[in-house]
Amino acid sequence: MSDKPVVLSGIQPSGSLTLGNYVGAIKNWVALQNSHDCLFALVDMHAITVRQDPAALRERCHEFLCLYLALGLDPDRATLFVQSHVSGHAQLAWLLNCHTSMGELRRMTQFKEKAGTHTDNVNAGLFDYPVLMAADILLYQADAVPVGDDQKQHLELARNLAERVNARTGERVFTVPEPFIPEVGARVMRLGDPTAKMSKSDDVPANSIYLLDEPKTVTKKIKRAVTDSDGEIRYDEAQKPGLSNLLSIYSAVADRPIADLERDYAGFGYGRLKGDLAEAVVAFLEPLQKRYAEFSADRAGLADILARGAKAASQRAEPTIEHVYRLTGFVPGG
Ligand code: TYM
Repeated sequence: MSDKPVVLSGIQPSGSLTLGNYVGAIKNWVALQNSHDCLFALVDMHAITVRQDPAALRERCHEFLCLYLALGLDPDRATLFVQSHVSGHAQLAWLLNCHTSMGELRRMTQFKEKAGTHTDNVNAGLFDYPVLMAADILLYQADAVPVGDDQKQHLELARNLAERVNARTGERVFTVPEPFIPEVGARVMRLGDPTAKMSKSDDVPANSIYLLDEPKTVTKKIKRAVTDSDGEIRYDEAQKPGLSNLLSIYSAVADRPIADLERDYAGFGYGRLKGDLAEAVVAFLEPLQKRYAEFSADRAGLADILARGAKAASQRAEPTIEHVYRLTGFVPGG
């Protein structure tokens, strides 16, 4: 086994991947795979907490895997796998359920939001979602979890559960994971309403830049993005949320500090900034989409990557399950 720090993260195969998912999470995944022992999952068991069409879910898992690959994740350097292929996630989630209080889960803001928008299907899985996420992380003894800002509260629960089980058993059952959140772009906002975060399941497509959007669609969306009327190009989240959001996206996509952008655009209008940003985003998306099409055409190659990932992840998960089963008092030999 490698002595590099372990990294685990995942994305729900729901909706369509956005630039927010890239900037907030996957960009760091790609960087970390060189220095860390990385596992990246397609968390399909999380996705079914809202209703999914089975055929569409299957298709989306393949689509997201192709986007992972096109964005630069390399199955020879990181374990890429589907959550439902590794039984340890559900096994550990059940055990962790028995260490989690209802009150802790009731406080989760994402549950409150989702319960508010999916009122016809407030199922127990939706409520329990953060425990399954803790299981994803603790199963592999992850040291670091690269995510966007919206996952902070869930990660805090994973940390609390790790500490709690360690204290209750008197053994170091789990590594206590650290969040790994980018300085710029941890919360990419909607283009049409910069007070709410960009989401892959948004009903209004103009709010999000999807990684598979056509270039002319991207340009149109950016040009129509909500800004303000004072005309000064300056980063200020409270006073200028729309413009600050565009500067963050620009900074992340072009790999340039926000201060440099502020300096370069001082005295120019928003139109110029939006035009250049659209060009930078298109320059990022075009080659990505070309690679995506190539990966999509190779179904056998994708199946092979997932089979390798499932095997590697299952092997990694086994010692944690054995350890925690033994400490729980389950009779060995099952
Ligand atoms: P999900 O699928 O909603 O989002 C995937 C990742 O993208 C980040 N993200 C954003 N970052 C910046 N700006 C945005 N607008 C934006 N929208 C999404 C998310 O923070 C996330 O990192 N619960 C998780 C999935 C999950 C997971 C895990 C993550 C399940 N198990 C274990 C880490 C470790 C979720 O719903 O992410």
